[in-house]
Amino acid sequence: MIVTTKELFKAAYGKYAIGAYNINNLEQCMGLFRGNIQSQAPFIVQLSKGARAYTDKQMLEGIIRSADQVFPEAVFAVHLDHGDEETCMDCINSGFYSSVMIDASAEEFEENIAITKRVVDAAHAKGIVVEAELGQLGGVEEHVVVSEADAKLTDPDQAKEFVERTGVDSLACAIGTSHGAFKFSGTQGLHFDVLAEIQKRLPGFPLVMHGSSSVPQDEVARINAAGGKLLGAKGVDDTQFKKAATLGVTKINIDTDGRLVWCRVHREHFKNHPEDFDLRPAGKVFMSEYANFIADKNQKLGSAGELANLRKLLAK
Ligand code: G3H
Ligand code: 13P
Ligand code: ZN
Repeated sequence: MIVTTKELFKAAYGKYAIGAYNINNLEQCMGLFRGNIQSQAPFIVQLSKGARAYTDKQMLEGIIRSADQVFPEAVFAVHLDHGDEETCMDCINSGFYSSVMIDASAEEFEENIAITKRVVDAAHAKGIVVEAELGQLGGVEEHVVVSEADAKLTDPDQAKEFVERTGVDSLACAIGTSHGAFKFSGTQGLHFDVLAEIQKRLPGFPLVMHGSSSVPQDEVARINAAGGKLLGAKGVDDTQFKKAATLGVTKINIDTDGRLVWCRVHREHFKNHPEDFDLRPAGKVFMSEYANFIADKNQKLGSAGELANLRKLLAK
């Protein structure tokens, strides 16, 4: 069942965070749905601009529609990740997405507000909810590239003003994470102090944490042992997710970790079976391993086991 992120956040706020997972193809979609049913968790399927262009946006949407039928128990939102204004409008008009993210975080404050407000007005007119971003994460997003030195943490006072003036439904805050597999060069971690200040000014308002892959070191070691070269890869400590949830984080974005599972499975498979050239054996292992990864991640987020409670709330 497709719901809005707003309905998911209402159930989760202050208690747990919903996993927002990016997908690009059938195998990721299958593993994602299986893992969430396995762990009885609500979730968010995220499609980036790159994912929509990888095969064909309608193909990807079709796969998700089918998953909704194959897994009737699943409760999830369909969300555009890091959209520009044009892509947001396309998704709003498509009638398929229950939620979009407008990422104008590279713009000046006033311009970010103006762009976000236009998207909010168009989305709300159709019952679609909107996430925006204030502050800048390090790393690479769709149309935004930020060096570690240029990354800017979200200013709590600006966050309050931004939410009030745009009418946005949730806010992605920069609190020290970055996208990709190389998040921290030294001892940096999450800035819970900044998060607490934002929550103080916006009590009850859903916050979003991007760049939250944990880049498991055993996964990195296995990839490197099977011919990869991921040197110095490092991620977020996922034992901190539940603390973030108590501070108002209701959505945690994870993409890179799923790519690492894909990379490890395929590298190991073809290293161990050099005679093999069939896509299905490795694909089957990937779907199963990805499902297990999702189920485990949902335990860390606190969303595992919440499906029944959510269904009760939705039925009211
Ligand atoms: O934040 C970006 C997401 O990880 C999506 O990545 O633009 O390569 O699909 P992508
Ligand atoms: P990771 O690169 O840490 O997986 O972050 C994903 C993300 O923020 C998607 O919007
Ligand atoms: Zn992101």
